[in-house]
Amino acid sequence: METGLLHTFSQDYKQLLENELKSLVEELDAPSIIKESMTYSLEAGGKRIRPLLLFATLDAFGLDPRNGLLAAAAIEMIHTYSLIHDDLPSMDNDDLRRGKPTNHKVFGDAIAILAGDALLTYSFEVVGKIPNEYASPETKLKLTIEMAKAAGTEGMVGGQVADMEGEGKALSLEELEYIHIHKTGKLLKYCVLAGAIIAGATQSQIENLSAFAHHLGLAFQIQDDILDVVGNEHLIGKPVGSDKTNQKSTYPKLLSLDGARDALHRQIKLSKDYLEKTGLDTNLLMELTDLVASRDH
Ligand code: IPE
Ligand code: IPE
Ligand code: MG
Ligand code: MG
Ligand code: MG
Repeated sequence: METGLLHTFSQDYKQLLENELKSLVEELDAPSIIKESMTYSLEAGGKRIRPLLLFATLDAFGLDPRNGLLAAAAIEMIHTYSLIHDDLPSMDNDDLRRGKPTNHKVFGDAIAILAGDALLTYSFEVVGKIPNEYASPETKLKLTIEMAKAAGTEGMVGGQVADMEGEGKALSLEELEYIHIHKTGKLLKYCVLAGAIIAGATQSQIENLSAFAHHLGLAFQIQDDILDVVGNEHLIGKPVGSDKTNQKSTYPKLLSLDGARDALHRQIKLSKDYLEKTGLDTNLLMELTDLVASRDH
């Protein structure tokens, strides 16, 4: 589903992002083991969907995606921290991530926990580093508050808690939706919101973009659940069947695979409807949305 436009865009901006992440960690003055552990997971080759969402949002406003480079690096740091902690033995207890042994398998639990802490903390410093020509101090404050909300107790952390508490229980679809919207959706929504904030979007653009990203986030996690059942371990770079082992409630478990696929397509349709309402140049965001629906990893 990835056309030439998104393909070239992804390649260019992924490379920029990866260089930025590398040099941001290199410039830290800290014991080498923590820098190695942070870099190990950051460099492990994720899809970089979150940064691409931010870049594509800036593009929709006709802005140079580079304006969002540090904001995108901060998001990828938070996302990577969440994966390191999510894989720990006390959480999902997974051994494979992004096609490599998980961080704690290589560095041990203590350093893995600290690498997560370090990435989370650094992400806020990185937002502070955005040059004033790209974002005024007031804009940076908005970015910081919204990022904290998306990643924190009312966002991703709340979702992860509900996910852990729900293990071994038969959750309702409503309870499962709370988990998905929070553990995954909030950060994805923030990527789009961050682009809108940097671009100085109007209130109605922010509302439509937020609704778009809300549905996209839900779709993204439904597909993650589907891939945990039918995915190929070599492609997804993480163990298949982890949710079953951990007795998680998932869309396929509650609705069957076909039901989960229907729910996915409903969410994709809703997200596109809201995207159309923005009146922006949304070609790249549309393609990214199709990619979320059709992705095999
Ligand atoms: C995995 O996210 C964890 C979820 C929130 C579903 P991604 O599928 O974006 O993982 P990477 O970054 O490509 O490894
Ligand atoms: C993880 O959800 C969400 C976060 C890391 C915040 P999952 O536990 O389903 O993600 P994977 O499948 O391990 O990537
Ligand atoms: Mg998990
Ligand atoms: Mg997991
Ligand atoms: Mg999963």
